[in-house]
Amino acid sequence: MELHTPYIFGNEIKNLGIAIKKNQIAIGNFINLFEKKISKFTKSKYTLSTNSGTSALHIALKIAGVQLNTEVLVSTITFIAPINSILYNGGLPIFMDTNNTFNIDVNKTIEFIKNKTYFKKGHTYNKKTNKKIIAIIIVHVFGNPAEINKLANICKERNIKIVEDCAESFGSYYKNKKIEHTGTIGDYGCFSFNGNKIITSGSGGLITFKNKNDLERARLYINQYKNNNLKFIHNDVGYNYRMTNINAAIGLAQLKHIKKILSHKLKIHNYYKIKIDSDEYSILNTPDYSISNNWLNILCINNKKISTKKIINKFLKNNINVRYIWYPNHLQKQMQKFQNYKMINYKKYKQCICLPSGYNISKKNINYIKKVLYE
Ligand SMILES: Cc1ncc(COP(=O)(O)O)c(C=O)c1O
Repeated sequence: MELHTPYIFGNEIKNLGIAIKKNQIAIGNFINLFEKKISKFTKSKYTLSTNSGTSALHIALKIAGVQLNTEVLVSTITFIAPINSILYNGGLPIFMDTNNTFNIDVNKTIEFIKNKTYFKKGHTYNKKTNKKIIAIIIVHVFGNPAEINKLANICKERNIKIVEDCAESFGSYYKNKKIEHTGTIGDYGCFSFNGNKIITSGSGGLITFKNKNDLERARLYINQYKNNNLKFIHNDVGYNYRMTNINAAIGLAQLKHIKKILSHKLKIHNYYKIKIDSDEYSILNTPDYSISNNWLNILCINNKKISTKKIINKFLKNNINVRYIWYPNHLQKQMQKFQNYKMINYKKYKQCICLPSGYNISKKNINYIKKVLYE
């Protein structure tokens, strides 16, 4: 039983056939259509597809203004891609602690901004390094939206751009006055359509923008910063980060099924909760201000006497493909030199396990997982 495998609905083959017959493998209509449909689904003004979630983050941070020796706030528990994207731009991460759903601890982050930084001539500076803090990356981990609303005001006042990492939160919403999709609150939203995500395009990503100018600059960056197609004039260092038509064809086919996928993922999550929640174990909850896409179900071991390692090994021995949640980034060898702030809550990661959560997981599978866990 796999942690997450792509689910093929069938219409992917039809779309691929169309792209191939038309000889639109690299460039073609599916790209534009995919961007338009994602705009509509998320209610984002502008969207730009990329070849991965990582490249989307790299370019969004660049457009936000991250450059050599500027600083970016980010929480420690996340896949490493957002941290690497800061480094690709020459930026420096400042690691924040997490809350009880492993999203960024917004209270401590606000405390850090208020007490450890100062504002001068329209920019926020770190008191410790005197370096400019350009942006914050808010990663919505496991599909659960982070408490972005609490941070939005102070970031606006302090001119700190918000880049939302929505790689795991396509189909996750805030229950604000109106329902708002993750990635539409901050300045930029970055999505991933990697094989293990809610919908996949094989590999792929997308950035949402509020401002057309930002969109057009990002479009240049993902096209080798080619200012002139005839003469090949390049006015900056760009990247080859475009999504192909083949990938968009697959993504578009998957997007057709998004309602069904989200409703099925909720059923999987609820069934896990019914079966597993007890004094000793629980399934990580969805924050009550949000609607989660239930991308990944996390098993939390409440009883500290139970060894996470033993449980992981037991699952693996029984062909249940589980894994630890990410190793905290501020502890990664190459990241230890960067600043971090009051790291406490993240330690809960040691008692958590990622459970199989793909579209194909059945009640029978979950019953088996329970049996192995409690045996
Ligand atoms: C939180 C997070 N950010 C970024 C990425 C990077 O996306 P991609 O694999 O499409 O580059 C991923 C996962 O793949 C992720 O989980």
